[in-house]
Amino acid sequence: MKAEADQNLIVYFGGQYVPLREARVGILTHALHYGTGVFEGLRAYWDEPAQELFVMRPVEHYERWKRNCGILRIDVPLTPEELCAITAELAWRNAFHTDLYIRPLAYKSAERIGVAIDDQDAFSIVAVPYGEYLHSENGLHAGVSSWRRIEDNAIPPRAKICGAYANSALAGDEARRAGFDEAILLNESGHVTEGATCNLFMLRRGRLITPAVTDNILEGITRDSIVELASRELGLEVVERTIARSELYVCDELFLTGTAVGVAPVVRVDHRPVADGAIGALTRRLRQLYFDAAHGNLPAYRKWLLPVYAGGRPAEQNAARVAETSLA
Ligand SMILES: Cc1ncc(COP(=O)(O)O)c(C=O)c1O
Repeated sequence: MKAEADQNLIVYFGGQYVPLREARVGILTHALHYGTGVFEGLRAYWDEPAQELFVMRPVEHYERWKRNCGILRIDVPLTPEELCAITAELAWRNAFHTDLYIRPLAYKSAERIGVAIDDQDAFSIVAVPYGEYLHSENGLHAGVSSWRRIEDNAIPPRAKICGAYANSALAGDEARRAGFDEAILLNESGHVTEGATCNLFMLRRGRLITPAVTDNILEGITRDSIVELASRELGLEVVERTIARSELYVCDELFLTGTAVGVAPVVRVDHRPVADGAIGALTRRLRQLYFDAAHGNLPAYRKWLLPVYAGGRPAEQNAARVAETSLA
């Protein structure tokens, strides 16, 4: 089935708010050929009782994006706060009253043949209505991939570099064709890194364990949120360390985290049940805590949320000023 985006969707492109049908790049664009872009992924959650749309941790996402763009020497000439204002303005202009996925993309924009990078950069931000990414309410069956996670010295996995996602696409495609819901990738040392598009946590002997940021993972913002919720709300000890493949087969609970997936329980790995094969109690609690925090129901975590509609149109002035900035 061919998925078609709504061409009337208002997107931010070339320094302006335009319909998607006008946001086009040429076929010689550097990033299209060589993968020289860095993207980001945010979520906004619609809270029906409050009639409010909450963007989850936008400042942290835009800070990560700008820093990681630096790895490819791409400059995004706006502050995280200005980027937040554009994001809120996009929601306003599209009159969104639903959950969203937000996709900023910065890229090498020169239209020419040749892999060397120059200083021609561009960026866009698109927000689309978005439901569940992985249907994980009954728990997922994950399979360890035959594809290895890319090494930091090849293409740094800590940045969401466009070209690096061929690695995730190969692993995800293999997993789904083999009947799994998601892939788990090992690094060249054979240790567990993460899922194709999400981080990984396991519970063993009462401790929550996740691979270290030096184990070829993306430094997930959901991962960071879960570490904070687990330690502050549940008093759990959280350990960042190398995980051996076979620990996945003997752990007490296993789950994946990410902006798209949220907190997704894994109940089977490589055809073996995780513990008794049911969703773990701790995973359920963390999933609920994360949901509540993202929907503005936990006052201590309102600090993570940007309310889009509260108090009129706070983004308007800032966004209008930004829209006038030409980003040729
Ligand atoms: C490879 C990879 N790992 C982990 C994550 C989770 O990161 P975050 O929680 O910041 O969305 C993502 C998704 O963005 C990803 O693509």
